[in-house]
Amino acid sequence: MLSLRAFASPLPRQCLRTAPRAAATWSLSVQRSYSSANEKVAKYNGNKDSNGNYLVSLIEGDGIGPEIAVSVKDIFAAAKAPVSWEPIDVTPILKDGKTAIPDAAIESIKRNKVALKGPLATPVGKGHVSLNLTLRRTFNLFANLRPCRSVAGYKTPYDGVDTVLIRENTEGEYSGIEHVVVDGVVQSIKLITAEASERVLRFAFQHAEAIGRKKVRVVHKATIMKMSDGLFLKTAERVAKDFPSIEFDAELLDNTCLKMVTDPNPYNDKVLVMPNLYGDILSDMCAGLIGGLGLTPSGNIGDECSIFEAVHGSAPDIEGKALANPTALLLSSIMMLRHMSLNEHANRIEKAIFDTLAEGKALTGDLGGKAKTHEYANAIISRL
Ligand SMILES: NC(=O)c1ccc[n+]([C@@H]2O[C@H](COP(=O)([O-])OP(=O)(O)OC[C@H]3O[C@@H](n4cnc5c(N)ncnc54)[C@H](O)[C@@H]3O)[C@@H](O)[C@H]2O)c1
Repeated sequence: MLSLRAFASPLPRQCLRTAPRAAATWSLSVQRSYSSANEKVAKYNGNKDSNGNYLVSLIEGDGIGPEIAVSVKDIFAAAKAPVSWEPIDVTPILKDGKTAIPDAAIESIKRNKVALKGPLATPVGKGHVSLNLTLRRTFNLFANLRPCRSVAGYKTPYDGVDTVLIRENTEGEYSGIEHVVVDGVVQSIKLITAEASERVLRFAFQHAEAIGRKKVRVVHKATIMKMSDGLFLKTAERVAKDFPSIEFDAELLDNTCLKMVTDPNPYNDKVLVMPNLYGDILSDMCAGLIGGLGLTPSGNIGDECSIFEAVHGSAPDIEGKALANPTALLLSSIMMLRHMSLNEHANRIEKAIFDTLAEGKALTGDLGGKAKTHEYANAIISRL
C-alpha cells in the first residue's frame, strides 16, 4: 500500500507520461517506408581508389588491436584482396560535454561506407560513454550480425555448431531512457518502434536468402511484454509475408536458451532475430558454444555504413607480447568481404584460416598452441 501511494505522487505521474510520448514523436519523425518487398536494406555502395581497390576505414583499436590488425593486412595482401586501408583514429573528443568521434574519422567511414574495427578500451569511471556504443549510435548501425561456427580442431562440448543470430542494435532495453521515479524507485523504458523492428527484420530475411537459409525465427517474450515484444512479433509476421520462400516462426527466449544448450544443431538451418537485450545475451551464449569470444566475428550493419569487428576486448594482459589470436578480427574481415560482394576472396581466405586451425600446428596460446601471432598468420598465408 505504501509503495502504491508513493507511485501516485504528481512527480512520478509526469515522468511516466512524458517519456513514452517523446518516444512516439521520435519514431514518427524518422519513419521510413520500404517501397518494395525486395528493397535491399543495408546495401554496400562503396568507392574504389585509383588502383581499383575498395577503400576501407581501419580502426586498429587499443591493446592487442594493432597486432591483430597487422595479421589481417598481411593476409589480405597475400590473398590480393582488392582492398586499400584508410587508417583512422577514433580517440574520443568531448563535444558539448558528450563523448564524440573526431570528425575526420566520421567522414572517412561515411565516405568509404565500410570499416573494420579492432577492440577499443573503455576507461573505467564516471562520464565515459563506451566508444563502441557511440560508433553504433553515430552511424545508426541497427543490426548486429553474429555468426558462430564450430572450428574443426578446437574441441568444445558440441561439434558442428553453426548459428546465425541478428540482434536489433539501437533500441529495446538499451534505449538509454532511464529515470528516478522517487527515491529508491527507478524506471527504464524499453523502447520498441515498428520502424526499427521492420528494418532489422527485413535485414534478417534478406540475410537468410543471401546465405541460403530457409528459416527465420523470432526470439521474444511477447507473452509477458505484450506491447513491446508484441509489436516486434507482429511486425515480423507482416514482413514475413514479403518473403514467401522463407519459413517463419517464433520461439520464447527461455525455451530457445534451454534448447540451444541442450543441442544447438537444430538451429543450424535458421537465422534467429530478436530485440536488443536478448540478442546481447544469446549471442555470447552461442560464442561460448564454439569456444569463446576469441573466435567470434561480428558485423554492425547500417543503411549508410557498416562496421565489422571482433567481439573480444583489447586484452591488456597480453598486449605487446605477440600472443594475441587474430582469428576473430580475421573472420570479421571475411564477413566484411562478403558484405562487399568480394565472395571469392572471402572464401579463399576463410578456407586457409579453417584449414590452419584444423591442422593445429600453428595455434596461438588461447587455443592451446605455442605460435606467436605472426607465426599463425604466416601459416594461413602459406595456404593461400
Ligand atoms: N568490442 C570492443 O571493443 C570491446 C569488447 C569487450 C571489451 N572491450 C574493452 O577491452 C578492455 C579489456 O576488457 P576485458 O579484459 O574485460 O576483456 P578482453 O576480451 O580484452 O580479455 C578477456 C580475456 O581474454 C583474452 N583475450 C581476449 N582477446 C584475445 C585474443 N584475440 N587472443 C588471445 N586472448 C584474448 C585476454 O587476454 C583476457 O585474458 C576493456 O577496456 C573493455 O572495455 C572492448
